[in-house]
Amino acid sequence: MNEKPFELFIDSLANSGDGVGRINNKVIFVPRTCPGDLALVRIKKDKKTYAFAALVELIQQGPERTAPLCPYYENCGGCQLQHIHYSSQLQWKTKNLLTTLEKIGGLTAPFPMTEIVASPKQYHYRNRIQVHLDSIGPHFMARASHKPVYVNSCHIASPQINESLATLKPLRRPKKQKLELALHDGGVGIYSVDPMGHSELGFRQVNEEQNQFLIDKTLSLFKSANIHSVLDLYCGQGNWLHHIHKHWPDLQCVGVDNNPVNIEKANSISKGQIRFHLSDAMEFLAQAQYIPDLLILDPPRKGLDPQLIEQLSQNSRPQWLVYISCQPATLARDLKQLTHHAYQIRELIPVDMFPQTAHLETWCLLQSNS
Ligand SMILES: C[S@@+](CC[C@H](N)C(=O)[O-])C[C@H]1O[C@@H](n2cnc3c(N)ncnc32)[C@H](O)[C@@H]1O
Repeated sequence: MNEKPFELFIDSLANSGDGVGRINNKVIFVPRTCPGDLALVRIKKDKKTYAFAALVELIQQGPERTAPLCPYYENCGGCQLQHIHYSSQLQWKTKNLLTTLEKIGGLTAPFPMTEIVASPKQYHYRNRIQVHLDSIGPHFMARASHKPVYVNSCHIASPQINESLATLKPLRRPKKQKLELALHDGGVGIYSVDPMGHSELGFRQVNEEQNQFLIDKTLSLFKSANIHSVLDLYCGQGNWLHHIHKHWPDLQCVGVDNNPVNIEKANSISKGQIRFHLSDAMEFLAQAQYIPDLLILDPPRKGLDPQLIEQLSQNSRPQWLVYISCQPATLARDLKQLTHHAYQIRELIPVDMFPQTAHLETWCLLQSNS
């Protein structure tokens, strides 16, 4: 394919948030473009049926374009959608979820799906960020690369975190560190991050307002369903269980997480009121001596272990599942298995936890067929 710049009309957005154009039956992905753009682009990576290109010049702007707020947006890999109006971001996320559920999950509309829940804050919503630090200063990484993008602010982080970010001094020696800056105990703490991306502070949902929505939604289930016991298999620091226990102290609540930092924190908050176990989710479920009425599943992006789903397809299984997902593709894959014999989707709510990025959170309620 031609290495010289050429004109391309962008007709849609890919899952990654890249604009998509087509030429001679080939799909071309162009970051930082949006539907309706006519762009001059240059091919960066050429494959048989698709290619990645860079925006050289915008010839005509699509109607959904807006000015990104962040001065680093063009190069930084953190956000993908700042150049698109927030209302269009929400529409695109909804459409993308539906397409993913159909293509990967084989699940066809109509779903019992409600309108996407917009984030009250479209910028400055993050209560924690992870940054790299070296002898030049704090930086994020460029999109799909290890190229540093040096920054002294981040427009999706809270103002307090930005104050702290601006004070980070370059390291004296030419070595590297990864740090987490997080709102904690009324201030901002700085924590180390291991090579796997785990902070010494453990896990916490990043958008407080949207987290509150997920908590309220989960709590509302207890008003209509007959639930006496809850097992939360990816419980983190007990984000859902502390609230459930506060409202219904007589319920049997058990939480499981495989990160010791999370379990320690969960225990220190609950002071023995809730049982928290340090364990792999699958291993715990395989050995559990009882079947909870409600099973909460909030796995990492890779979704559920296939063996865990297999176990949930057996005859004796929880009546209710709440599956909270941060990755539509693995949610669709897992829902395909869960709805094959055992469960029906009762409610599906897309929740925009991560404005300006291509990521989406989904709250899903399933009920056993038996
Ligand atoms: C998306 S977070 C959800 C945490 C919690 N529900 C919350 O809202 O804060 C996923 C959690 O799963 C835990 N985790 C990852 N893999 C696991 C596994 N195989 N077994 C148990 N927990 C796991 C992580 O430590 C993390 O706390």
